[in-house]
Amino acid sequence: MKHILLTFALLTATAALADNYHYGPFPAHYVEECGSCHVAYPPQLLTSTGWQKVMAQLNKHYGVDASLDAKPRAAIADFLQRLASNRDKHAPTEATARMTNTTWFAHEHWKSSPAKTSFADCATCHTDAGKGDYSERSLKRPAGKRHRDD
Ligand code: HEC
Ligand code: HEC
Repeated sequence: MKHILLTFALLTATAALADNYHYGPFPAHYVEECGSCHVAYPPQLLTSTGWQKVMAQLNKHYGVDASLDAKPRAAIADFLQRLASNRDKHAPTEATARMTNTTWFAHEHWKSSPAKTSFADCATCHTDAGKGDYSERSLKRPAGKRHRDD
């Protein structure tokens, strides 16, 4: 029995390594406040500086007002900071700190999003993005797009 359990644990660990694009689940308060207009983005895919910039301009949030009261705002800022990336490829490249403008994102994706779609709508292709799941299994490539280089 012990042996079976160990084998199972190893298999699970290997699967996680081969396909570790699971960033969720996220706390309910984060999904509630930051996942109603778009999916709750994975905190792990932007640096702390990036999240600071996003959280500092919620009243002018990409053309909408996404302001929060001080308390939930602080709780979310804290959550984002705890999981934020510290890798250069996840650093913001412009003042609004879009995750879709990082060098990492550009490397994984096409130069521009398919017609009438926005890269910010991760769930168009990553069908389980709402749960923080960006694995190959749940990826639905747009018609005619097989690989990021197509
Ligand atoms: C009232 C609606 C609304 C709420 C609430 C909201 N956002 Fe947004 N957010 C938007 C819109 C609109 C965009 C721009 C989408 C686009 O370009 O297609 C956006 C874009 C973003 C982007 C950049 C996406 C990219 O292109 O890389 C980030 C990061 C972001 N939001 C984080 C947050 C966080 C964190 C919260 C919670 C504190 C939040 N949003 C709450 C509407 C909202
Ligand atoms: C128009 C479709 C589309 C949209 C929208 C999109 N992606 Fe992707 N994403 C892809 C494709 C295709 C790949 C490359 C998979 C591969 O390696 O062949 C990818 C790769 C990824 C990967 C690496 C996982 C892997 O299997 O290689 C992550 C993480 C990711 N995207 C996150 C995001 C996030 C976060 C958003 C929204 C801010 C987003 N994507 C929006 C199509 C999309």
